[in-house]
Amino acid sequence: MEIDGRGALVTGASRGLGRALARALARRGARLALVARDEKALWLVVDEIRGEGGEAHAIPADVGDKHAVYPIAGAAAALAGPIDIAIHNASTLGAVPLRLLLDTDCEDLERVLAVNLVGPFRLTKALAGGMLVRGSGVVVFVSSDAAVSAYPRWGAYSASKAAQDHLSRVFAAEFEGTPVRFLSVDPGEMDTRMHRDACPDADPSALADPALVARRIVSLIETAEAAPSGARLLAQTSEALP
Ligand SMILES: NC(=O)c1ccc[n+]([C@@H]2O[C@H](COP(=O)([O-])OP(=O)(O)OC[C@H]3O[C@@H](n4cnc5c(N)ncnc54)[C@H](OP(=O)(O)O)[C@@H]3O)[C@@H](O)[C@H]2O)c1
Repeated sequence: MEIDGRGALVTGASRGLGRALARALARRGARLALVARDEKALWLVVDEIRGEGGEAHAIPADVGDKHAVYPIAGAAAALAGPIDIAIHNASTLGAVPLRLLLDTDCEDLERVLAVNLVGPFRLTKALAGGMLVRGSGVVVFVSSDAAVSAYPRWGAYSASKAAQDHLSRVFAAEFEGTPVRFLSVDPGEMDTRMHRDACPDADPSALADPALVARRIVSLIETAEAAPSGARLLAQTSEALP
């Protein structure tokens, strides 16, 4: 998809990969609607992008709050124009330090699913119909290797990401034959706050720079028509998984 001039919604854009995605899309000429809960941090990203000559707007909101979803979609279209690119990047690990499933509170699991699965589902429902009517759209679900590997203590997060991957596949099957594409992208390990929260002892020099990963994801969006819709892709190699 040609990105220049498109409305793009990025959740979790106040730091880490989301901030890097926002900056990379802005450099390609996207008109950005950026979502996160920390309003001050979000505005810093908006100011950064505007300072580089890009267009960005802040929508402070919690994607896990069902009442926030239609206001997010409405504000995004009002501020950035019709949203043709949606990136579900906001995510929570749940309680940290990460816990064994038997020690995970049911409410923690519910919250992880609300943010990582139900929020992206609601937002996609709010946005994908418009993409279909306009005849173009790319929806990216940011995944994780935890979606396919069973790591002890990553249960709530893993289950949410596995379900999100499958949501992407089913959306793709239901939109087959239309111009709306769905991609699930595993960004790989990156030096971000989430990684520090999950693995405080990790060596940051062994982790990818989110700016490099964001550039790979932007290039996957640019070539989305070539990948099978619903594909699970690795951003750090761009290799398609079965
Ligand atoms: N870092 C890694 O090694 C790694 C590996 C595999 C996959 N991933 C995935 O990559 C994506 C980005 O992760 P990251 O490492 O950049 O994480 P991060 O640095 O912790 O950033 C997470 C972003 O999501 C936002 N967010 C969290 N909960 C939210 C909510 N309820 N509503 C709205 N925004 C919310 C945060 O902002 P606020 O706190 O202000 O809301 C922040 O902007 C996630 O989907 C993650 O699962 C990361």
